[in-house]
Amino acid sequence: MRIIKLLCFFIVFQVSAQQGGMWIPSLLEGMNESEMQSLGSQLSAKDIYDVNNSSLKDAIGHFNGGCTSEVISDRGLVLTNHHCGFSQIQSHSSLENDYLKDGFWAMSLEEELPNEGLFIEFIVSIHDVTDTVLNGVTDSMTEKEKQSLITKNSNAAMETWPKEAWQDVKTKSFYKGNQYFLFVTERFEDIRLVGAPPSSIGKFGSDTDNWVFPRHTGDFSMFRIYANKDNKPAKYSKDNVPYKPKHFLPVSLDGVEEGDFTMVFGFPGRTNEYLPAVAIEHITSEFNPTNIAIREAALKVIDAKMKESDAVRIKYASKQARIANAWKKWIGENLGIEKSNAVAKRREFEETFKRALKEEGLEDKYGHILPKFDKLYKDFAQSNIKRRNFIEVFIVTNELMHMIFRSYQVEQALLSNPEVLDRAKASLKGRLEGIHKNFDIEVDKGVHLNVMPLYGKTANASIYETSAFVNLDSALQLLEGDAQTIIKNLNADSAYAYAKPIIDEFYSSIDPEFQEKNEVINALQTEYMTALMKALPDERYFPDANSTLRVTYGQVRGYSPRDAVYYNPVTYLDGVIEKYVPGDYEFDVPQKLRDLHNSKDYGNYADKNGKVPVCFLGTNHTTGGNSGSPAIDAQGNLVGLNFDRVWEGTMSDMNYDPEICRNIMVDLRYVLFIVDKYAGATHLIDEMKLVHPKQ
Ligand code: ARG
Ligand code: GLU
Repeated sequence: MRIIKLLCFFIVFQVSAQQGGMWIPSLLEGMNESEMQSLGSQLSAKDIYDVNNSSLKDAIGHFNGGCTSEVISDRGLVLTNHHCGFSQIQSHSSLENDYLKDGFWAMSLEEELPNEGLFIEFIVSIHDVTDTVLNGVTDSMTEKEKQSLITKNSNAAMETWPKEAWQDVKTKSFYKGNQYFLFVTERFEDIRLVGAPPSSIGKFGSDTDNWVFPRHTGDFSMFRIYANKDNKPAKYSKDNVPYKPKHFLPVSLDGVEEGDFTMVFGFPGRTNEYLPAVAIEHITSEFNPTNIAIREAALKVIDAKMKESDAVRIKYASKQARIANAWKKWIGENLGIEKSNAVAKRREFEETFKRALKEEGLEDKYGHILPKFDKLYKDFAQSNIKRRNFIEVFIVTNELMHMIFRSYQVEQALLSNPEVLDRAKASLKGRLEGIHKNFDIEVDKGVHLNVMPLYGKTANASIYETSAFVNLDSALQLLEGDAQTIIKNLNADSAYAYAKPIIDEFYSSIDPEFQEKNEVINALQTEYMTALMKALPDERYFPDANSTLRVTYGQVRGYSPRDAVYYNPVTYLDGVIEKYVPGDYEFDVPQKLRDLHNSKDYGNYADKNGKVPVCFLGTNHTTGGNSGSPAIDAQGNLVGLNFDRVWEGTMSDMNYDPEICRNIMVDLRYVLFIVDKYAGATHLIDEMKLVHPKQ
């Protein structure tokens, strides 16, 4: 009896210690399939990914290249996060029709709103093309020679790969260039907005609650994919019809409880799980703090002005959310790395690696890697910081500087080739219009004054009075005439003259130095990956996220963020009401939702305990890009919608720790409750397939 207990303990420990990883859906047979089943899954690898039959992957779409979405009806109804559809919701909003504030619900197909430029892409099939892509690549080649042969081989593979006329192909590098896969894809471009809750539900808790738990955000929105009459991808047309998918996810009304299996299926963007300790140290102690400071300086102004004016609030909503999101994430990342002793642990691991190199007789070949990293990062640190700070100021935060930066690029293009005039003009015009749509001169001036000193330059408020760029009409006038006139006009502008030497410096030294050093570090990182897999072949290696379709799985679990504190994995509507602050810009709760809570009008959507679940936690290893990913139960039904991670665990991009890394999902029953009881959009509920897998 004792022995059995001990054994069980051991097995459980093993499983939980081993979670983490973002796996390639076509390679789940074997290790992943059995691990998933040991966690409670009843799915086979083929249920998840199958080229010959429909499978779960056919319901998963890459949403606009940055988020994930899933099909939940046989008429192309799609679910993603509120924050993923945010800029579309914003673009349809005005002071009269404030969909950001009040929400939006199309009560029929005719009322659904088209979105120019928005697309959803599905994966048709995945193929290992490593041998083709690396054909002829040798160790004696220089990095440039290697890369150019790889590009040539991979272009050749894409050109000749068999596909249908409406499909596309792309290749992507995995394991730092140790493996290559080719993807056949289908991209739908007529995507219409179907519904969004008010921000007081979809963005409830805003920045204060972003990246933290306990969480009470109903972060969802709905779209619909339209196809042509043959059910194939097509540009927007009135004549398009709702898409009939190969597979859509049934929605479970039974939810999950602690310990239940969950799988998150989506398009994680970027992780760096195999960094040397010296890199983690650089990122958290030098790199992050400078970028945090720049964003904080910008947010100070933006936040204050948004509270003062509704017009500014609508204009800056998306931009503010983008700036604040990474700002807060980096702070959490630093905290988690420190709290979990990640740098010291990584150093310990490096000792293990070094011992293994010795034992395997690989020291001569790979022994130079770690010392070389130490040396390279010392030299790389300042370049990396300077370049990123430039981007933070000239692209992310200060819009006037952003306009000058884009104009500078046009001047350079015209100087080297005047023939590009029309194209360059059109593209710059589009940029300027886009920026001015959401530009407020007072906000931007305040941002400029705050961020520029953090880049080591003196700010200049007077350019906001004299520059033509602060007004769209006068900015566009700068683009009139031939190449010479445009160049002359740009250089006569006060803001242009102010910023030009700073941008010159970026292009003449900061960026080239960064690129040169970065290339060397990347090549070493490729070699390190190879060496790791050879020296420690029994470790589990998953490829870093690269915006391709991945499976990650785990269980519903709470966690302990600090001594004596334990977070239960599930939050309820009661908690929304607990956080309610009347009229607050983050924690206001709509009257209707308070009424539903008062009268306990919960329909089918309450848990066994009679309460409406709102969010839950899991040990699924996710990252940016997994927003909107479905959380799928043991039988393949939709139970949740991934939208965030807990603060202490955002370091999972560099260091997944099963103790504190958790992903946050909206419970699908909350989504249904809002759509049905709050919005009265019952026609959407009728479209879905609701199931009771636990009965
Ligand atoms: N942190 C989540 C993510 O990385 C949600 C961001 C949107 N919410 C916000 N308050 N900015 O995308
Ligand atoms: N909110 C993130 C996104 O937009 C997902 C959260 C995360 O980074 O894990 O993809």
